[in-house]
Amino acid sequence: MPANDFPQFGLGTYSDDNKDYWAGIVESALEVGYRHIDTAQIYDNEEYVGEGLKNASVSREDIFVSTKTVHVDVPGPSPDTEDILAAANGCLERLGLDYVDMLYVHWPVGVYDHETVLPAYDRLYEEGTIRHVGLSNFTPELLDEAQEILSAPVFAHQVEMHPLLQQEELHRYAYEHDHWLVAYSPLAQGEIFNVPEIQEIADKHGVSPAQVSLAWLLSKENVAVIPRTMNEDHLQSNVEAQDLELDADDITTIDAIEREKRCIDPDHGPWNK
Ligand SMILES: NC(=O)c1ccc[n+]([C@@H]2O[C@H](COP(=O)([O-])OP(=O)(O)OC[C@H]3O[C@@H](n4cnc5c(N)ncnc54)[C@H](OP(=O)(O)O)[C@@H]3O)[C@@H](O)[C@H]2O)c1
Repeated sequence: MPANDFPQFGLGTYSDDNKDYWAGIVESALEVGYRHIDTAQIYDNEEYVGEGLKNASVSREDIFVSTKTVHVDVPGPSPDTEDILAAANGCLERLGLDYVDMLYVHWPVGVYDHETVLPAYDRLYEEGTIRHVGLSNFTPELLDEAQEILSAPVFAHQVEMHPLLQQEELHRYAYEHDHWLVAYSPLAQGEIFNVPEIQEIADKHGVSPAQVSLAWLLSKENVAVIPRTMNEDHLQSNVEAQDLELDADDITTIDAIEREKRCIDPDHGPWNK
């Protein structure tokens, strides 16, 4: 089991619009018990996330804040070390924080060059600007390559994971290399509501399909979840998934689902190479 100062239940904050809503949602999330908030430079909402963090009555040191930089869509030439340091400091400034708990490399493609990006992450780690280094959307080969360069430990790897994309290989890799696997799109952006096995288990326990998907993920060792919602009722019911204990039959039934659906599947996804 990797380091345990990591709240396994977090809030994802991506949205195409209404970005200012995140101030209120993040504040509400913290009030109902969330202690891990996930954002990214590219989400263009860090200032609103920061506002929510500031307005909530929870101390900074009790909250795990993660953000991400180095995105394939960032225009211009590949960033050099100074660009990465500036990008990270920009995140902190918008969030209104003097450190973040984790900074992820968002995508290991496009402007990503491991020999430039990772030493900059090491520097941010050494100077305490970031408490942990995270990677996102890597393959096992790219994880191996990154770990050859990085001096800082990889704390977490964030990838799409849910009952329709079970990520056995990356889960095994995370377990063997002692880092967290953070499941993004843990509700398959709503697709899990159309899975009969999930619905049946939800009916059996008198809970929502969202809670079943989240509880199944949390039943796996070293897995964390970051469901997104802008709805206060969902905010509350999702976090209650931490209290749902699925039985062995439920887990076996979901583990056995072989149908696959990848929600985030751009051509540049390194798994498509
Ligand atoms: N690293 C990466 O490259 C990457 C990529 C994608 C996502 N992420 C992160 O992962 C987070 C979550 O993934 P996601 O946003 O793709 O999808 P998701 O969390 O799987 O699904 C979000 C959708 O489910 C709905 N929902 C949430 N709770 C619900 C409930 N209890 N009942 C019914 N509907 C519910 C939400 O609508 P309502 O608002 O109406 O509840 C929203 O439409 C993102 O916000 C982001 O932080 C990271």
